Amino acid sequence: MLINPSVIYTFAPPKTKEEMAGNITFTMVKPEAVANGNTGAILAQIEAAGFRIVAMKKTQLTAKDAGTFYAVHSERPFYGELVDYMSSGPIVAAILEKDNAVADFRTLIGATDPSEAADGTIRKNFAESKAKNAVHGSDSDENAAIEAGYFFSGLERF
Ligand code: RTP
Ligand code: MG
Repeated sequence: MLINPSVIYTFAPPKTKEEMAGNITFTMVKPEAVANGNTGAILAQIEAAGFRIVAMKKTQLTAKDAGTFYAVHSERPFYGELVDYMSSGPIVAAILEKDNAVADFRTLIGATDPSEAADGTIRKNFAESKAKNAVHGSDSDENAAIEAGYFFSGLERF
């Protein structure tokens, strides 16, 4: 469904064509990777793998934002550490488009723990540890749409 430009939406607009096709994912370059100066190299690897950047911004999460974003992990023992880490410095958030975006991006970033990540993956190349693992990648089409909507309006997507 196309968004009608003559309508001022007072509610969430219909999903974009990319979201309906399941062709977007959401990523963050995490605080330690931004602080270490790896943002550009990580984005270059993402683009070289065939992902198109639909939206992007540098921002910093409050502890409340990080807690909401990772609420699914609120009962896990590492939740407090995760919230502190993800709010410890600026991150770079982006929406990425590609066929089979969610699964292909998870393959590109590699396992959560860099010691288990395949050679050449972003986490193998850039992660410091299982906790400080350089990048986030959505785990489903549904969560990709939710996470993208948490950071970006329709006006910020190109
Ligand atoms: P993400 O959501 O950030 O893309 O990572 P993921 O799917 O590979 O891993 P997930 O299980 O969703 O965990 C979210 C993030 O929590 C931190 N973590 N720390 N210390 C630990 O044992 C531990 N386990 C997970 C990592 O930053 C992980 O990416
Ligand atoms: Mg996850």
